[in-house]
Amino acid sequence: MLDKTSTRDRVDDYLNDGLGGLWVPVAVSVQVKPGASLARRVMNENLVLWRDAGGKLRCVEDFCPHRGAKLSLGEVQEGNIACRYHGVTVDGTGTVVKVPAMPDCALEGRKALTAYEVAEAGGAIFIYIPSADRPEAPEFSPPEEFVSDEWEVFPCMTHWDCNYRLSLDNAADPMHASYLHADSFTLAYGAKQDTMKLDRTDDGFVIERVNQKGVNFDWTEVVVDESTMYFRLDIPYPDGAGPGGPFRIIGFATAIDEDTHYSFFWRCRKVQGLARESWRFLYRAFLEDRHWHVLEQDRVMLESIPSDSRRREMLYQHDIGVSRLRQMMVRRAKEHFKALDAAEADASGKISA
Ligand code: FES
Ligand SMILES: [Fe+2]
Repeated sequence: MLDKTSTRDRVDDYLNDGLGGLWVPVAVSVQVKPGASLARRVMNENLVLWRDAGGKLRCVEDFCPHRGAKLSLGEVQEGNIACRYHGVTVDGTGTVVKVPAMPDCALEGRKALTAYEVAEAGGAIFIYIPSADRPEAPEFSPPEEFVSDEWEVFPCMTHWDCNYRLSLDNAADPMHASYLHADSFTLAYGAKQDTMKLDRTDDGFVIERVNQKGVNFDWTEVVVDESTMYFRLDIPYPDGAGPGGPFRIIGFATAIDEDTHYSFFWRCRKVQGLARESWRFLYRAFLEDRHWHVLEQDRVMLESIPSDSRRREMLYQHDIGVSRLRQMMVRRAKEHFKALDAAEADASGKISA
């Protein structure tokens, strides 16, 4: 039986590589152009994405079934992907459909690769990463802002050299804005002292400052539901920043491996019609640079944190959101291991019987 320490290490190692059983964003939609493929590393797996003949996104392991070359170096042909090395061609289910160099090759028709479910929402591509307890993809339910006509959303993706959990911790910690971003356009306001309060929701929690609302980045909602995990926060905008009320950020963090991740941010505003056009213009022309400046401050700070920092942190009251998020993720990881151990026990029982 595992002792407590090794259980903790096992859960921690698993979480550091990326929590499965979720839909995770892997690219902005425009990055997968018709007729071209895109290589991605997600949770230590090399994957390739492309659009099939009907425009449907496909994702399989980036590994040629013949001798392992990267399929992403090949070509999209009639909706399938053909390896550059000897032309072996695989379809979106991971099945070999053609071995052009060898007539009637026995590899044809063989399911050789893991294929991943793919969905598009909010201008980005999501794939489902199974876990032992959630092997089948549930229907993807994106944040409501992605599907509502009332919201205008721009996705942006960036690559940070730190563990994805640090990005999530960062979002569950509104207080950092008053310090780290104190020189920024919109995050310079408000008190530098406060107490935090946490309210649980049906699928996560809201962490907020007790004495300040609508002044700075004062609250975050964290959602870990049946299909995905993300956060939502508002940044109050001055009148000069155009129509639409606060600037809303929806964020996801997708592990590449233990030390790097993709941070995804959707910049959202509640605008329609002409106001939408003026917001798009204003954002592109003036505000986007400022937003990147703030994100850069986050990146530098998070990349400075050692990957084993959790072993010697000294948390205080403001970290109740960070703690709650970690508890929720640990619970999901334990469900994965429970299912994994049960499946292994079942398999070994069958072998010894
Ligand atoms: S390694 Fe891909 S076709 Fe040979
Ligand atoms: Fe920040």
